[in-house]
Amino acid sequence: MIRSVLTGTGSALPVRRVSNAELAETVDTSDAWIVERTGIRFRHIAGPGETTGTLGADAARAAIAAAGLVPTDIDLIVLATATPDQTFPATATKVQALLEIGDCVAFDVAAVCSGFLYAVQVADAMLRTGIHKRALVIGAETFSRILDWEDRATCVLFGDGAGAIVLEAHDSDDTPADARGVLATRLHADGRHNDLLYVDGGPSTTGTVGKLRMKGREVFRHAVTNLSAVMGESLDLAGLTTADVDWVVPHQANARILDATARKLGLSPDRVVVTVDQHANTSAASVPLALDVATRDGRIKRGHLVVLEAMGGGFTWGAAVIRM
Ligand code: COA
Repeated sequence: MIRSVLTGTGSALPVRRVSNAELAETVDTSDAWIVERTGIRFRHIAGPGETTGTLGADAARAAIAAAGLVPTDIDLIVLATATPDQTFPATATKVQALLEIGDCVAFDVAAVCSGFLYAVQVADAMLRTGIHKRALVIGAETFSRILDWEDRATCVLFGDGAGAIVLEAHDSDDTPADARGVLATRLHADGRHNDLLYVDGGPSTTGTVGKLRMKGREVFRHAVTNLSAVMGESLDLAGLTTADVDWVVPHQANARILDATARKLGLSPDRVVVTVDQHANTSAASVPLALDVATRDGRIKRGHLVVLEAMGGGFTWGAAVIRM
């Protein structure tokens, strides 16, 4: 059978790094409040010339190099974002152009913070058809541009950045117990909760970009329940259990959600990759960014079993089980 094997990771952050203290100079908040409620200490904010497309391309270049490939080896680009450079064309095609990849398939996926999980399942399915050989899967966002900087309950929570992975189609006869690659993915959506986390604009409604709105408390409650459930479902699908997991790479929304979710699953916190303190919530970029950090610093090694999970607006949520 064909499996999608992860052969490289990469990430990119805007140059400007903003501390809670710096934010508190213009927003009615404090370092103590933000750290206690969220665990966030820093976020990166895109400056002039830095966009979802440029950050995505930088992350993609790093992932392609880590895989030992060149850009023209890529025949599929799936880019997850809720903050595209333009309403159309897809930001994936901008990345394609910046990387000077000739003919390939390139499109965006919109599932907000779980967009990267959706993109992994789509790319995995396309690779397993045998039509595509090497996919770039990117999560890239510039949420700073859709934040209401007057709303302290949301603007302190988010940051900008991008992460990318290369998935390559490999023939494999191995069982999930020892095979490398994407072993299982599980996605969900429940559109009834649209009004708990959304942007109050769009091309077809207001003709404007809009700003992010969130009922934080309700989102928190759903997140812990949904994320622990979907991680369990994805492990079941792979025929594995939490005891087999080396690392969980969660969506980096809030340190308290990470802790509560790990506890609910009986997972030790020292098996959970945490970058929310450094990057805040970068939406679709957060999982591949954290995956890249923990791969490059040597925590995640070849052969490790890694579970990725995320939840976001919609609601949408999902998990993926990958052996590195
Ligand atoms: N600085 C200081 N005070 C703030 C603040 C800030 N940045 N933001 C809100 N507050 C205040 C509120 O005004 C409120 O004050 P009041 O009691 O005088 O009215 C108080 O803090 C509590 O607000 P509340 O919204 O109830 O806080 P909370 O304990 O629910 O924490 C979140 C807020 C956003 C941190 C929390 O709900 C959360 O993490 N939710 C999940 C959000 C998330 O991760 N979303 C993304 C999923 S993809």
